[in-house]
Amino acid sequence: MLFRLVICAAIVSAADVFNYGAFTQTATYSIANQLGFFAAYGLDVVYHQVPNSTAAYASVLSGEYDLLTGSIDNAVNLRFNSGKNLTVLGQLDQGPDLVLASIPGITNISQLIGKPLIVDSPVSGYAYLLRKVLSSYGLANSDYFFQTVGGTNLRYADLIGGVLPNGSAVYATILTYPFTAYGEVLPAAQQPNILARVSTFENPISSSAFTVAQSALDDGDQSDLLVRFLSAMYAANLYLNKFQNQKCATKAIQTQLSVTSATAALEYVAATNLTSGEISPDKKFTVSQAGLNNIIAVREEFGGFSVASDFDFTAATAPGTGKLIDYSLRDKAILILQRKLLSVGC
Ligand SMILES: *[C@@H]1O[C@H](CO)[C@@H](O)[C@H](O)[C@H]1NC(C)=O
Ligand SMILES: *[C@@H]1O[C@H](CO)[C@@H](O)[C@H](O)[C@H]1NC(C)=O
Ligand SMILES: *[C@@H]1O[C@H](CO)[C@@H](O)[C@H](O)[C@H]1NC(C)=O
Ligand SMILES: *[C@@H]1O[C@H](CO)[C@@H](O)[C@H](O)[C@H]1NC(C)=O
Ligand SMILES: *[C@@H]1O[C@H](CO)[C@@H](O)[C@H](O)[C@H]1NC(C)=O
Repeated sequence: MLFRLVICAAIVSAADVFNYGAFTQTATYSIANQLGFFAAYGLDVVYHQVPNSTAAYASVLSGEYDLLTGSIDNAVNLRFNSGKNLTVLGQLDQGPDLVLASIPGITNISQLIGKPLIVDSPVSGYAYLLRKVLSSYGLANSDYFFQTVGGTNLRYADLIGGVLPNGSAVYATILTYPFTAYGEVLPAAQQPNILARVSTFENPISSSAFTVAQSALDDGDQSDLLVRFLSAMYAANLYLNKFQNQKCATKAIQTQLSVTSATAALEYVAATNLTSGEISPDKKFTVSQAGLNNIIAVREEFGGFSVASDFDFTAATAPGTGKLIDYSLRDKAILILQRKLLSVGC
């Protein structure tokens, strides 16, 4: 007994703290956290719920977060428009359950004319995809306006409540996993309406990306920590996408999110969708080039770049050392994959 306690204490003290910033608790994270994948890599992962993208990217650049998962569009914007040295190590997902959702009283996109729409930031993340959806329905930019509210968790709460903390009425916003399914299981009178699915207009898209400060790649200890985190997430992602693990994966989602089994089942379906789920084209966290091109084209369409007119997006998005996308740590993470985790039970 005493011997066991000593061993446990040794394992606990050996774990390295890893500060992880994220907008949502993804299915991959849920599995890694609930089924002991982080622990297997000697990591004590501290989840930081980010309030909004502005604060989140400042925290990863300052070193407060070791890594942030956020829409790759933010990294594109901050790096190309503002010269911030952010590096994407890989892609986690293609925007699962990304929808335009409204309060029950709004049933048609044309009812949004003249209304405020709540967003994380009017110049980053999903705001340009929202513009794309609305323009596909014939709305001009001048037909609506944005109110800056914060990350998806905050916007979901405001949408369900129907008001912002200052009493201003809420009409519609972009939602994503896991919040879209949360809405779907509410009593009918409270259910948000899904006015449109983003994938109807842009598919595929590259969405959540593993993002770090570029300087982290020049620091051996920090790189080692990042490789272990990525490898744990990679193992969890392979686990998620292996059909035999459906029951245990759903259970991990349910426990992590504290939801019913019915909601967890919806989340599992969204996360494992082969075109829009938590997946990369090669299942190795490689950024979907088509998805990234779509994101950049939408931002360009709505004037979201302040780069020189001859800016070479192809060269700027090609992976490499010191570039927006750098796969060197991802490659190491794949090499140290602990295969025994892939058959962990629940
Ligand atoms: C983002 O969050 C930070 C920290 O909570 C807050 O101080 C700031 O006002 C927020 N910014 C926006 C644009 O919402
Ligand atoms: C970004 O990195 C480049 C190359 O390492 C460096 O020249 C530049 O000063 C850095 N920019 C910022 C804002 O730190
Ligand atoms: C939404 O409104 C537009 C314009 O008012 C109308 O043409 C369309 O049929 C409406 N759609 C639905 C589903 O009510
Ligand atoms: C309420 O907050 C929103 C979001 O910050 C802001 O856009 C809006 O102007 C505020 N409304 C009032 C009446 O202060
Ligand atoms: C996966 O998502 C795409 C895009 O949203 C959708 O068209 C398709 O029906 C989904 N597939 C399944 C099996 O749910």
